[in-house]
Amino acid sequence: MEKTMNKLIKTIGLAIVGLFSTILVANSVLADGHSNEVNIFSARHYDSDVQLYEKFTAKTGIKVNVVSGKSGALEKRIIAEAGTADLYITADAGRLGAFEANLQGGLTSPNIKSAVPSNFRTSKWVGIAKRARIVYFAPERVSGAELAGLTYESLADPKWKGRLVIRASNNIYNQSLVASLIKNNGKGKVADWSKGMVNNMARAPKGNDRAQILAVAAGEADIAVANTYYLALMLSGKKGAEQQAAAKKVKPFFPNQDGRGTHMNISGAGLVKGAPNKANAIKLVEFLLSEEAQNHIVNNTFEYPMIAGVSPHPLVVNMGLDFKQDLKTKVVNYGKRQADALEVMTAAGWK
Ligand SMILES: [Fe+2]
Repeated sequence: MEKTMNKLIKTIGLAIVGLFSTILVANSVLADGHSNEVNIFSARHYDSDVQLYEKFTAKTGIKVNVVSGKSGALEKRIIAEAGTADLYITADAGRLGAFEANLQGGLTSPNIKSAVPSNFRTSKWVGIAKRARIVYFAPERVSGAELAGLTYESLADPKWKGRLVIRASNNIYNQSLVASLIKNNGKGKVADWSKGMVNNMARAPKGNDRAQILAVAAGEADIAVANTYYLALMLSGKKGAEQQAAAKKVKPFFPNQDGRGTHMNISGAGLVKGAPNKANAIKLVEFLLSEEAQNHIVNNTFEYPMIAGVSPHPLVVNMGLDFKQDLKTKVVNYGKRQADALEVMTAAGWK
């Protein structure tokens, strides 16, 4: 009996020691920082982002591990290395929307909700910065009268025949723009519109957004469609003296001012399914939406801030801030209508 009792006490003692050492190990992991981290997969390739994450670590003690790459490759890795990624940071609501099956809800904290208007977020992904997809024109060949009342819809008007450049239909920015047109006008009308667009093209689509602006500057076309931050980027000189000079030859025009407003899109962050550091990921998103981080982002990317009270880069301010944004068309529609958008563009022969 005494022998059994001794054995029991010994077993309980060992169990207590075991439990205690487990707690010690857990504490030491936190203390040296290995589990106090967040893993982000980012398609943003800005050196300046590293400084931003360092600020976050200094404030919170949370280490930021960054995997950089192109969106397609990152999405494959996030799926292949399930349970690794916490946040997926990329451009375009259409891209985040199309990846939604691999994201989870949870970006619904009061800080996030009050910072980001509801049309620029879901529970799974939220806008971090905004951009507009607008028209650029050559002032010596396009008059103010010709531009008056210009809409995305009217870009298909035969008066622009042979005068328009826009990139290919496989481009996500175009897919999101066309998705928004389908949401507002219906698929049938946008199928006809796509044909009109193809008829008006000065050349078969090629190159990135900056290449469209360059084509207008070079006289290959009179109007181009491209995102707002590219003009500022070119004007800044960061893309070289040649692009800077070209950017000075074109002017921005914000379409649909008499109606729903100019097409808006976001760069954003999505909360990945199976995120091992969910709470830290939410903290990082909240930090990215802080005034300090927003100032840092807009001055490096030339995007518009997501939150109120932050001014964009002076070169973006110069493009005009008093335009009407389309705040009616929720950006979640860009993913929902993406397949339809690609279908109508392809059917119209939009390369
Ligand atoms: Fe871009």
